[in-house]
Amino acid sequence: MLIGVLTGGGDCPGLNAVIRAVVRKGAGLYDHSFVGFADGWRGPLDSSTVTLDVSAVRGILPRGGTILGTSRTNPYTIDGGPEKIKATLADLRIDALIAIGGEDTLGVAKRLYDEGVPVVGVPKTIDNDLGATDYTFGFDTAVNVAMEAIDRLHTTAESHHRALIVEVMGRHAGWIALHAGLAGGANVILIPERPFDIAKVCAYIEHRFQDHYAPIVVVAEGALPAAGTMATSDGELDAFGHVRLGGIGQQVADEIEKRTGKEARTAVLGHIQRGGTPTAYDRVLATRFGLHAIDAVHEGDFGVMVALRATDIVRVPLSEATAELKTVPPERFAEAEVFFG
Ligand code: F6P
Repeated sequence: MLIGVLTGGGDCPGLNAVIRAVVRKGAGLYDHSFVGFADGWRGPLDSSTVTLDVSAVRGILPRGGTILGTSRTNPYTIDGGPEKIKATLADLRIDALIAIGGEDTLGVAKRLYDEGVPVVGVPKTIDNDLGATDYTFGFDTAVNVAMEAIDRLHTTAESHHRALIVEVMGRHAGWIALHAGLAGGANVILIPERPFDIAKVCAYIEHRFQDHYAPIVVVAEGALPAAGTMATSDGELDAFGHVRLGGIGQQVADEIEKRTGKEARTAVLGHIQRGGTPTAYDRVLATRFGLHAIDAVHEGDFGVMVALRATDIVRVPLSEATAELKTVPPERFAEAEVFFG
């Protein structure tokens, strides 16, 4: 078989490990050949390809990013987009496609599958918010990067008697904030699922200063204040209609300074969380996803996504993959709340 592979959406550590596993098992065990598509759905739209064979995947296991490139291109917002993709696949005589991505990329994969394209999906998002899988690779790396930043910020915050606000990724779900905040001993964690009361946040901050210990606030970029409690600003939209987030950390810091009179500074971790080498956990999970994805293709089991359920890799319909956003449940947030203040 000739199999196309693409990576779409925001990059995350572990993408190369998936690609390597797909190619190594696919070429080595099943004798399949591969075509890499450049920059997500832009590749098959523009017939832009990348050589993808065993030598192309040598040495990429520990490398962050994706050797195929990525983009947030949405073929369904482009005139004749899906038809162009089908024409490229036919021209190149591609038998199947492996799409590695988050809800947007897999949403496109599902629509294309419904229109007859043989696709297998691999879930990816550092936000860990895909309902159909227990974990996505990249999340553990992001949490470790954020935890290390929090550890470092503790010492400088204490020396200067400042509040330090750490803004982490997490558009709709606060998993990175929750895990990094728990692991790093945050004073308070603000997540999109739980609109925050800035007066309560300030009370936690003051309490921590009374204990002669500098507070660290971990805020997910998608966190919002409870209605009417604090003004916020909006960002631009991307091709999938998502707001480009960022800035809530600074807004929280400004409000803390105003209300408590204490100095508050912000560190926005941004894309640092997405770059660099994956943790061992992410390398193993990504590798297992890749191995199981190529098995699904080899067996002709299309329209599915590989997923982690407990410690097993299973296949779920692509329709399930994007059906439910996995948000932080109240009882998980309550575990972290024990340490607030
Ligand atoms: O969807 C994953 C993610 O990392 C989000 O946490 C974040 O909001 C977004 O991507 C950032 O996207 P971009 O790199 O396009 O700014």
